[in-house]
Amino acid sequence: MAYRSTVEFIAALEKAGELVRIPFPVATELEITAWADREMKSPGGGKALLFEKPTVNGVISSFPLAINTMGSRARMALALGIADVDELMNQMRLILKAKPPTNLRSAWTLALQGLDLLNAKPNHVRTGPAQEVVHRFEEPLTPQALAARLPTLLDLPILQCWPDDGGRFITLPCVHTKDPDTGERNLGMYRIQIYDRQTTGMHWQVHKVGARHGKRYYEKNEPMPVAITIGGDPAYAFAATAPLPDGLDELLFAGFIRKRPVDLAPCLTVPLDVPADVDFVIEGFVHPGELRDEGPFGDHTGFYTPVDKYPVFHITAITHRRDAVYPCTIVGIPPMEDFYMGTASARIFLPVFQMNFPEIVDIALPAEGTFHNLVFVSIRKQYPWQAYKIMHGLWGMGQMMFAKYIVVVDADCDVHNTSEVLFRMCANTDPQRDSIVTKNPSDALDHAPTIANLGTHMAFDATRKLPGEGYHRVWPELVKMPAEIAARVDAMRRTL
Ligand SMILES: Cc1cc2nc3c(=O)[nH]c(=O)nc-3n(C[C@H](O)[C@H](O)[C@H](O)COP(=O)(O)O)c2cc1C
Repeated sequence: MAYRSTVEFIAALEKAGELVRIPFPVATELEITAWADREMKSPGGGKALLFEKPTVNGVISSFPLAINTMGSRARMALALGIADVDELMNQMRLILKAKPPTNLRSAWTLALQGLDLLNAKPNHVRTGPAQEVVHRFEEPLTPQALAARLPTLLDLPILQCWPDDGGRFITLPCVHTKDPDTGERNLGMYRIQIYDRQTTGMHWQVHKVGARHGKRYYEKNEPMPVAITIGGDPAYAFAATAPLPDGLDELLFAGFIRKRPVDLAPCLTVPLDVPADVDFVIEGFVHPGELRDEGPFGDHTGFYTPVDKYPVFHITAITHRRDAVYPCTIVGIPPMEDFYMGTASARIFLPVFQMNFPEIVDIALPAEGTFHNLVFVSIRKQYPWQAYKIMHGLWGMGQMMFAKYIVVVDADCDVHNTSEVLFRMCANTDPQRDSIVTKNPSDALDHAPTIANLGTHMAFDATRKLPGEGYHRVWPELVKMPAEIAARVDAMRRTL
């Protein structure tokens, strides 16, 4: 199911009993973070919060603020318009297995399976609700524009999340760019630091597609058009965070998720198309070679990422819906809302990993690992050193290159139970024999490596060892109760 607006998504959250409205003023400076942090750390991720009167420097903003809208398994599914994230995983599996229909019968079978990929293709429209209110900027702002008090970035309820943050940051921005050579679109989520009413930072890290597009514009010495959208169907924000391979269009993916094509409208001041039904569109340019201090920022890692140089974004227009809501999130010490987004991505892309490595049974990215710091993977092991093939394979796949620690376990271990994985790791490994350390790019946010972006990564083979792996003792059996005895005792216990 597709949502036509953030307002519609909020209504769905409310109907499902997943929303708390806060009707009184709460400050965007730290207070909303303190509130949302407690909510995100309560069992199961708490509730979504709608701050109806967020204040900016003591003044009530014209726009309500929604946070933690995807911060539980149930809300993540609701955001994607499904009952459970595994539904999308199963569809992904069907797509990967599907062969192009060779006759009507197979086409019909595909259709029955819900594999109508036509939804993935965006529709082009002339305009949409996202352009109901238009503010164009000249550079620098004219006195007339200033006097007219056109809403600028300073009027949006953008959070200063943590005490030592370098300022306010847009935390759920969908950043739209285009490859200048091929015209291919990209949508990535890169945080946006507000410098002043019409200038921001552009935090695309060196490994990300936005940064690659930027590099090509810099090489050509051409200003780079960029559009930032906020809100609309939550499938957009989710698609922006999804680790799709470079060149695979996130808006096609969003259309596939929503089962409805994304309506794309041309921006007013930059040559880019963006979803026509989002809440806000911020248009502008990044100029080649211009860099500025960005940060510090209380980050996904649970630590502040320090100041670093990033490109600068100059705004040429802000457009928005009349009923715009400002959706955002916070990051910090886990668990946070992004854990549920990351988990959903890992579930939906599990079939892709399994297509490359059929022995993979399951993958989990526990909250403590803040995305890629810790990856648990279970495999159906068939031959010696197969666990090492999986480690190297994962380190070579997209953003899995950042996986700092990988633990490979046997198929009968539940990777979503961290305690069970640690038990297997401690019990089944001889540290020297069963670990490897290698070199790979590290996540730009990781403060531990001596040199930024260059990391060592470690993996443990916690599977049962085979004789062919040089293990010549008898591998012991796990202590387990036969199922029928356990069931009998369960029945007896229920009679008490
Ligand atoms: C809440 C949130 C904030 C994020 N902020 C950033 C960021 O500031 N910079 C960045 O490079 N990646 C950030 N990411 C991760 C990217 O969105 C993610 O790696 C995405 O796949 C990048 O898309 P791309 O491969 O098309 O560049 C963030 C993810 C989430 C969930």
